[in-house]
Amino acid sequence: MKNKKKVVMISGANRGIGKVVAEKLSEEGYLLSLGIRNPFSLPESLSSIPETHLLCNGYDAKIPKSAKSWIDGTIEHFGRIDVLINNAGILHSFGIEDDSEELLDEMWEVNAKAPLRLTRLAFPYLRKSGSGRIIDIISMSGRRVKGNWVGYSMSKYAALAASHTARFQGWEDGIRVTAVCPGYLQSEMTAIHAPSVKQETMSRPRDIARIVSTLLTLPNESHVPEVMMNCMLETV
Ligand SMILES: NC(=O)c1ccc[n+]([C@@H]2O[C@H](COP(=O)([O-])OP(=O)(O)OC[C@H]3O[C@@H](n4cnc5c(N)ncnc54)[C@H](OP(=O)(O)O)[C@@H]3O)[C@@H](O)[C@H]2O)c1
Repeated sequence: MKNKKKVVMISGANRGIGKVVAEKLSEEGYLLSLGIRNPFSLPESLSSIPETHLLCNGYDAKIPKSAKSWIDGTIEHFGRIDVLINNAGILHSFGIEDDSEELLDEMWEVNAKAPLRLTRLAFPYLRKSGSGRIIDIISMSGRRVKGNWVGYSMSKYAALAASHTARFQGWEDGIRVTAVCPGYLQSEMTAIHAPSVKQETMSRPRDIARIVSTLLTLPNESHVPEVMMNCMLETV
């Protein structure tokens, strides 16, 4: 199937931020290619979208060949890729004195290596688009350190470095790359790992979706390299 509407790939769209972003972009008429581990975990709000507007592809950030098959599947289904949203991520909240190298390796795989791999594989198609976009959902933990989530921060700093590198490499071909760096958001992730912060005081996933939606309306000449979002006062 070939279509002129913009095709957006989103990793980890079955829940959390990715789900809310996918719902908003679907409402706005984008064609969605969702990369998720378990296609049966797609909520009704997304699984009810007609096949002409939705591809739900198996994707596991820890399995390199699944990135390639998701990209290939997207091209086969829609014939183009205009936007890649690197959203899938994990948090293991170990600290500096914990012996947790396996957890660090897992975060390195999912948070740092996997988005870079998808970016690399999507690049040729984003170039063809002429106004390709990559939105990397990083974190304020990739912008500053203020706690003891050492491995998470390391993986997110690395992801931010890849995001900015892609920004430079894609510029001449109209690819614009934005790193979105939220602080605490109302989510399962923060409910588990930041229980001392009240959920109602945190930013909301739908506000990330509004930001993503706005970023996608901007022309090549109005590029936003980074967006920081705070729910409490920060020094950066
Ligand atoms: N929540 C926050 O406060 C916050 C703040 C800043 C940045 N972020 C970042 O925002 C992104 C989304 O976070 P969230 O709050 O929406 O988290 P979440 O609710 O825990 O959702 C995480 C998403 O990532 C997917 N995922 C995890 N491991 C994966 C793997 N190996 N392969 C493919 N997908 C995988 C999950 O799929 P499954 O359902 O299969 O596990 C799920 O769809 C992450 O990159 C996170 O680091 C979150």
